[in-house]
Amino acid sequence: MRRPVVMGNWKLNGSKAMVTELLNGLNTATADIDGVDVVVAPPALYIDQAERLIKENASKLILGAQNTDVNNSGAFTGDMSPEMLKDFGATHIIIGHSERREYHEESDEFVAKKFAFLKENGLIPVLCIGESDAQNEAGETESVVSRQIDAVINHCGIEAFNGAIIAYEPIWAIGTGKAATADDAQRIHAFIRSHVAKHDAAVAEQLIIQYGGSVKPENAQSYFQNPDIDGALVGGASLKADSFAAIAAAAAEAKKA
Ligand code: 13P
Repeated sequence: MRRPVVMGNWKLNGSKAMVTELLNGLNTATADIDGVDVVVAPPALYIDQAERLIKENASKLILGAQNTDVNNSGAFTGDMSPEMLKDFGATHIIIGHSERREYHEESDEFVAKKFAFLKENGLIPVLCIGESDAQNEAGETESVVSRQIDAVINHCGIEAFNGAIIAYEPIWAIGTGKAATADDAQRIHAFIRSHVAKHDAAVAEQLIIQYGGSVKPENAQSYFQNPDIDGALVGGASLKADSFAAIAAAAAEAKKA
């Protein structure tokens, strides 16, 4: 049985006051939820504050981040490295988010390099994949997600997916309120798992595949009751302690043994 992982991607949102309020709220709201890993990925500037608050509260919350560089130090202005992320206790690192692929022109190959470097440094890549609206309309979803996964397999080998996470995030569902139906999400998740299984069945079996795109407390349960949806990557609803905790609770409840 795969342990579900619910992760909050705060994107470019936050302030010192907001981070304190949200993490204290989340600590209380998630205290009694077991059977799910609850991860928060604040903006880089607030990772230090988040680490301190998590420690002070002796919280079960797990710290993540929204990006990494492919070097650990040196002349790379503006970047942050796996070593630094580890220094602050961050473990789950989002890579390949569609917003970075689009606004920073990150290619499949560059994302694969990040995946390899995170693994090399003992961190958990959360590899975001997903198709655009036009690709969805054209029936290209499977070919797009296959291409995105194959770039990593070709660069790192299938074994690299041991202990890693894939987040299937259809771009048209991100921040739009137009979530994928649970049936469609399950169908694509099953496809992703079978695609990985073609290379290695055991790796596919342990792989956490999250759904992301307008996940809310109201629709969370419909996703998690499906066998191949092992958690969620949550944007907007992760900025409110009660909403995010409700999503985590839905995952724990749906996946309990
Ligand atoms: P929303 O939950 O706001 O749609 O964002 C999803 C997302 O992009 C998480 O990475």
